[in-house]
Amino acid sequence: MKKIAILASGNGSNAEEIIKHFNGSTKGKVAIIASNKKDAYVLERAKNHDIPFISFSKKEMDEGLLEKTFEALEIDLVVLAGFLLKVPDGLIQMFPEKIINIHPALLPKFGGKGMYGMRVHEAVKEKGEKETGITIHYVNEKYDDGRVIFQESVKVEETDSPDEIAHKVHALEHKYFPKVIESLL
Ligand code: GRF
Repeated sequence: MKKIAILASGNGSNAEEIIKHFNGSTKGKVAIIASNKKDAYVLERAKNHDIPFISFSKKEMDEGLLEKTFEALEIDLVVLAGFLLKVPDGLIQMFPEKIINIHPALLPKFGGKGMYGMRVHEAVKEKGEKETGITIHYVNEKYDDGRVIFQESVKVEETDSPDEIAHKVHALEHKYFPKVIESLL
């Protein structure tokens, strides 16, 4: 049974889909949800599903809290699901090709520092893109730069608002992220 750690900063709808996907699975389980925001809704979701959770400050993270916690739990795969801080280099070195992120666009388009949440979908709208999508990739020392594992696209209609684009992208994330994680375990 492989153990998954999820890092998230916000709502956590992807985290919840992953929890549900592995509920009762013999392949893997979500061993911990960790958030840099103590009032993030993702922690409520963890509570509701009886998944262990922690919150931490950036200082604690920089001092190695995640490395220590994940080592003690014997974590196999670290999943970023809406995690807004840069992952510490120590963690990247400890989990080579074992930290993955989901980005709500077709990288290398609409990626990089500051490109997150609605900003991505607003930029897609602004540029008049005909399609957008999701990218699941390995995490390295730069933002949104590691090797791509999986992409899926969706059509953007001229009349779609950024909110509607976000909605389509979220649906893709929920559909594919848990399956891609399972395939990596
Ligand atoms: C997702 O759109 C993901 O691509 C991005 O952050 C968002 C998280 O959404 N990295 P949620 O918190 O899982 O609802």
